[in-house]
Amino acid sequence: MRKVTLIPGDGIGPEITKSVTDILKAAKAEIEWDIQTAGSDVIKTEGVPLPKRVTDSIKRNKVALKAPVTTPIGKGFRSVNVELRKSLDLYANLRPCKNIKGIKSRYDNVDIIIVRENTEDLYAGIERQIDKDSAESIKIITRKASTRIAEFAFEYAVKNNRKCVTAVSKANICKLTDGLFLECTRETAAKYPQIEYKEILVDNLCMQLVQNPENFDVLVLPNLYGDIVSDLCAGLIGGLGIAQGANIGLEAAVFEPVHGSAPDIKGQNKANPTAMLLSAIEMLKYTDQKETAKKVENALLKTIEQGKFLTPDIGGNSTTEKYTKAIIANLQSV
Ligand code: NAI
Repeated sequence: MRKVTLIPGDGIGPEITKSVTDILKAAKAEIEWDIQTAGSDVIKTEGVPLPKRVTDSIKRNKVALKAPVTTPIGKGFRSVNVELRKSLDLYANLRPCKNIKGIKSRYDNVDIIIVRENTEDLYAGIERQIDKDSAESIKIITRKASTRIAEFAFEYAVKNNRKCVTAVSKANICKLTDGLFLECTRETAAKYPQIEYKEILVDNLCMQLVQNPENFDVLVLPNLYGDIVSDLCAGLIGGLGIAQGANIGLEAAVFEPVHGSAPDIKGQNKANPTAMLLSAIEMLKYTDQKETAKKVENALLKTIEQGKFLTPDIGGNSTTEKYTKAIIANLQSV
């Protein structure tokens, strides 16, 4: 049995976590969960939203599956997600975005890999109130982080038969910071002549993604643009309910959906567990359980294609529980 840290999160987190762990249990995945709570409820009992026991558990197990955790807006504690990625140096945020047969969207030809830098940029959280009417935030971009994320993107492209890496920036305005990011992606691109290299400004990218998403292959972006563009790309394929993600470092990896804790649908049995299940499938591959991963993926894709038990966000009128049961039933027939 492989020990894996499990963070059930909050909001819809516990509902989709139950769905995913039920499916993995039915698929006989070789996993023993090391359950670790984090977030606002934990503050009441332990004083902090991300206690050391959580990061210790991930360091021990080297792999985690995580549901979303709420971050208060404009006040309160710092994001558990940002803190986790930073403290474990999970420098690459990998967010594949591909159409799934059976899920309606405006496009049927999206197959984009988003590689988002995960440790710096405006997410360094260096902010200060100058006076009551002004505040500032510092954008940090370093050669080390930019080069290693560029290397990750090109290595991913080589290993996964992708043709082109596009570096995304706003280097016309942020000349020093995004300029340095581009300097690093260019230097890295020169080492991978077999992969085409392009550059694009983030505003133009957003427009082009909406018009012709099929023109894009692998995108490499600094943290903030990567965060925003990955939600945009989720919208291209049918929404956040199906957008998977992984945070990868040299010592550990945390697999989690792109979406947040969706407080608007919490406790209503309508959350879509697909994004977290797809993230769990990647986690299975990462822990060398490729056969189980394939089996779960086939059952998931079959359930979506059958279209009978889809959750409302992807055009159905079923529930999280019924969708989960349908996937489990399909495990027997794939
Ligand atoms: P959100 O992603 O939670 O929700 C945006 C919209 O998408 C909502 O209408 C929601 O109902 C829908 N949605 C999201 N996931 C869904 C799913 N699995 N099934 C069906 N519908 C789904 O974004 P929002 O509302 O901006 O953020 C809520 C909280 O989540 C915030 O506190 C934010 O900081 C946190 N968050 C946490 C993340 C993480 O833990 N990695 C990532 C993003 C946000």
